[in-house]
Amino acid sequence: MKNEFPAAHADSSTDENITAAWQAAHPHLMPYRDTDSTSGKISSVFARLHFASGPWVDMAEVHFDRAAQQFFLTQESRRKIEMETPATKGLPVDAVDARLWFQQPTIINIEPTTRCNFSCWYCIGRHMVQDDITLENFGKMLDNFPSVKVIALVGEGEPLLHKDFFTMAGMAKDRGIRVMIISNGSAFSQSVIRQLCETEIAYVSISIDSHVPETFAESRLEGNLDKVWQGIRRLREYRDTNGFKFPKIALKGTLFEATQDQLPAIVDAAKANGVEIFESFQALNPKESYVRIYPAGQARELPVASTVQQAINRDSLYGRTQLQAFQDFCTEENLDFFPTLQSPPSRRNCSETWIYSLLSGDVTPCCQIKTPPSQNWNIFERSLDEVISDPDYENMRFNLWNGIFPRYCEGCWKTRP
Ligand SMILES: C[S@@+](CC[C@H](N)C(=O)[O-])C[C@H]1O[C@@H](n2cnc3c(N)ncnc32)[C@H](O)[C@@H]1O
Ligand code: SF4
Repeated sequence: MKNEFPAAHADSSTDENITAAWQAAHPHLMPYRDTDSTSGKISSVFARLHFASGPWVDMAEVHFDRAAQQFFLTQESRRKIEMETPATKGLPVDAVDARLWFQQPTIINIEPTTRCNFSCWYCIGRHMVQDDITLENFGKMLDNFPSVKVIALVGEGEPLLHKDFFTMAGMAKDRGIRVMIISNGSAFSQSVIRQLCETEIAYVSISIDSHVPETFAESRLEGNLDKVWQGIRRLREYRDTNGFKFPKIALKGTLFEATQDQLPAIVDAAKANGVEIFESFQALNPKESYVRIYPAGQARELPVASTVQQAINRDSLYGRTQLQAFQDFCTEENLDFFPTLQSPPSRRNCSETWIYSLLSGDVTPCCQIKTPPSQNWNIFERSLDEVISDPDYENMRFNLWNGIFPRYCEGCWKTRP
């Protein structure tokens, strides 16, 4: 998928300036000025347009003149619209709605802890304040987000180390909320396994960076692959012999230059040890704030991160044939992880339908962003409705949906094809 860079510039003598209608609807929705060099060149956004005394047109391309900060319906766009919807012929645009991305989130990814018993060399969690979410704040989040259906208890730490993990899982279960986690797979004692089943945790995804124990321990410092496989087998056996349907067991991981071709072998080993779902693998995060924490000896990894990502994309197909695809699991279980709204054609974008909260309750666009873009987006202090209707929050969704990435999203735009 490539970004689109429409060559046409707005021509004020022939193109229709729709800035007044845009401003009347949502003056706060504006393409970011400070963005990365690629998406900073994007000169169009998508919106619903209303043609006076005529119909609405759902996904119209609107030219944005960055220098003048004005919105135009170009002749070319108009021709296309009039061809597809003849009832718009000759009618001026009198209303705009650019909130096409808008979907009420039903999922929250909340960081339960930043503490961990591993010290993976690439993990930013090891450089963050080491703390746990309090039960009080977890309860506030539940109250502030009454429409939540799924909670991913995932952050830069090991969720199962939180002493109140199962109390939180029980609080969620009592409200009919599904819980999912990502784990390093090291803490599956018999008691943890029993509680994972009894609280009906929907899904445990386990990070496996290599199928070779020595290589696994090179990135997952203090990690013992044999012990992780053993834990997974015990979980699967206990769940199945005691008639529990959940948790389903999934696979995830990070690959590097030396391990970029290991994905099929990891999938085979995972399947043999009882893993059922293929979630995703990722390359090393090249975000500047992460790079700072990587040991000097790993500098060679960064220039190859996007090549590694390509190998992952190629081999993920194998993962999805050998194990159940994450997307299919979500469909089966009714988990709204994937947006139902159509995003702009051929434009890489970000339209996640969940919100991400740090340990502090501050919401950021995704788990890679540790500096909250706004102090107004705190899910312990404000209701979800207040957070997502905040003008800056709406503008962030508008930009991400249109493929315009703020600088803090560099971790994604540097590796996404
Ligand atoms: C942050 S961990 C937290 C959950 C759990 N402790 C675990 O390791 O699975 C979640 C996932 O992010 C990956 N990850 C963490 N830091 C990363 C980085 N700098 N680059 C790429 N992947 C990373 C890990 O490999 C893991 O699969
Ligand atoms: S196991 Fe997870 S949280 Fe722990 S150090 Fe590794 S990546 Fe970070």
